[in-house]
Amino acid sequence: MLSEQARQAIRLQMSRYPDSRSALLSALYIAQGDCGGWVPHEALRDVADEMGLEPADVQSTMSFYTLYNKAPVGKHLIEICHNISCAIMGAHRLFEVMEHRCGIHPGETSSDGLYTLKAVECLAACGGACSIQVNGHYQLNMTAEKLEFLLDELAAGRGPIEPIYNRAYAPELTASAAEGGPHA
Ligand code: FES
Repeated sequence: MLSEQARQAIRLQMSRYPDSRSALLSALYIAQGDCGGWVPHEALRDVADEMGLEPADVQSTMSFYTLYNKAPVGKHLIEICHNISCAIMGAHRLFEVMEHRCGIHPGETSSDGLYTLKAVECLAACGGACSIQVNGHYQLNMTAEKLEFLLDELAAGRGPIEPIYNRAYAPELTASAAEGGPHA
C-alpha cells in the first residue's frame, strides 16, 4: 500500500527521535500524503508494521486527531473554522456558500468529487477570522464573497491547489512528485 518513498520517509523520521514511536504523527501525515489525502486501513497497518507498533495503537492515535482523514476526500479539502472568533465574524455564511455552490455540508464530498468540506476547531489564526484552510493552505479574513471567488479559482484550476501534505515532514516525497513520481 505505502510506497517505498513513504516508507523511507517514515524511517527517516523515526531516526530523528530517541524513541522512534515519537514519529507516529509524522508517519501518519506521510501516509496520508502518500495515499492521496487520507489514511486507508491498509496504510495504517503499513505504518504500524514499519514502526513496530500494534495497528490498534496507531488507530487510537489517529482517531484522536482531526487532521487525519479517515475516508477519501475530494480534490480540494476545504476546512472552515467554526470556533468563537470565526463564528462571530460570520463563519456560518461560509458554510452557506459551500452548501449553495457545492451542495455539501461538513463531512461531505461534492458529487463531482471536487470538494470535501470539514468544520474544524480553532486553526490558531483567530486574528484572521474568518479563517479557513484550502488543501492545507491558510486563507484568512475570509468572507462569503472571497470564498465564492476562491471556488471560481479552484474550478478554473488556479488557487491553492497543491496539498501541503508531506512537505513539512517528508521533503523527499515532494521532490519525487516534482520529478514525476507516483503522486505528481
Ligand atoms: S476561532 Fe477560528 S481560527 Fe481561532
